[in-house]
Amino acid sequence: MAQEHHAGEYDAATGKTTTGHSWDGIAELNTPLPRWWLYTFYGCIVWAVVYWVLYPAWPWFGGATKGLLGWNARSVVTVEMQALHAERAAMMDKLVATPLQQIESTPELLSFARAVGASAFAQNCSPCHGAGGQGSRGYPNLNADRWLWGGTLDQIYTTISHGARWPGDPDTHAGVMPSFGRDGLLNAQEISTVADYVRTLSGNAPDAGADLAKGKQLFIDNCSPCHGEDGKGNTEVGAANLTTQVWLYGPTKADIMHRVEVGGGGVMPAWKGKLDEGTIKALTVFVHTLGGGK
Ligand code: HEC
Ligand code: HEC
Repeated sequence: MAQEHHAGEYDAATGKTTTGHSWDGIAELNTPLPRWWLYTFYGCIVWAVVYWVLYPAWPWFGGATKGLLGWNARSVVTVEMQALHAERAAMMDKLVATPLQQIESTPELLSFARAVGASAFAQNCSPCHGAGGQGSRGYPNLNADRWLWGGTLDQIYTTISHGARWPGDPDTHAGVMPSFGRDGLLNAQEISTVADYVRTLSGNAPDAGADLAKGKQLFIDNCSPCHGEDGKGNTEVGAANLTTQVWLYGPTKADIMHRVEVGGGGVMPAWKGKLDEGTIKALTVFVHTLGGGK
């Protein structure tokens, strides 16, 4: 038979009173919660009520209760975005107002221009020029110190703004290489001979038994008006420098003969009007600082 316990009974073993609850003779001692715990608990309740009143809290028809402070996560993000846009717009204005030549000597503007330029490049230019501006066949390598249209800031700016052989832009870079083979200006033998000579300009070996003297004469007569007597090219007409190891179409004799056969020139879009002035300047600085800038 279980022993009966009554509320407030003294328990000799612990010196405490009991609550009166007992199960199979096991009595429950009356041990109140510590005060610090209780006050913390009450504090939490008060804090929660204040929070419900001030901030969005309870699900309600058409959205949660709004709270007296009118706070919401989206308005915080919006304010932060506006601050960012304002900061960016101020830097953009500065970029537009600063002459190209002075941007790179202003560290703050240089890093801003490079950041804006890098993202605009990834979006607009990398499909043709490669993610790192390394180029590919027919698309110039922008890291190399070898320029069709020139590597100064002003020249790069002009090329990006107006493109090359771009039909819609009257200021676009114009002029193409003649189709010496197709148009019968040179015969197959002459094309082979001049190609041998062109290979020597960049230190590549000509075919055995090549007539380099004749090749040189053909070059002077047909090619030097654009590529120069020394073969170093001419940025006025976009004629490639033929004396380096960087090639637009390739260094093999077959590549060179094909170019002399068909001539022509690559097409680069004009970006003026499609991109704003600040972005074009940022791209100019970005390309100029890729490694090949003059
Ligand atoms: C549709 C392909 C295409 C896109 C897109 C393109 N380019 Fe070009 N780009 C070319 C080609 C092709 C040439 C070479 C033109 C030639 O053969 O004369 C070129 C030439 C250039 C040159 C001159 C290189 C030199 O050697 O003088 C620069 C600088 C340049 N591009 C920058 C850019 C920038 C910056 C962008 C992005 C805003 C861009 N390009 C987008 C195709 C493209
Ligand atoms: C009217 C000017 C002009 C004349 C004349 C001319 N070229 Fe060119 N040449 C160019 C231009 C412009 C390019 C660049 C083509 C392009 O951007 O796609 C070029 C490109 C080349 C290339 C490609 C270079 C590369 O990087 O892959 C070779 C090779 C070349 N020319 C050889 C010759 C030879 C050889 C002759 C003479 C038989 C000649 N050119 C005459 C304008 C000329």
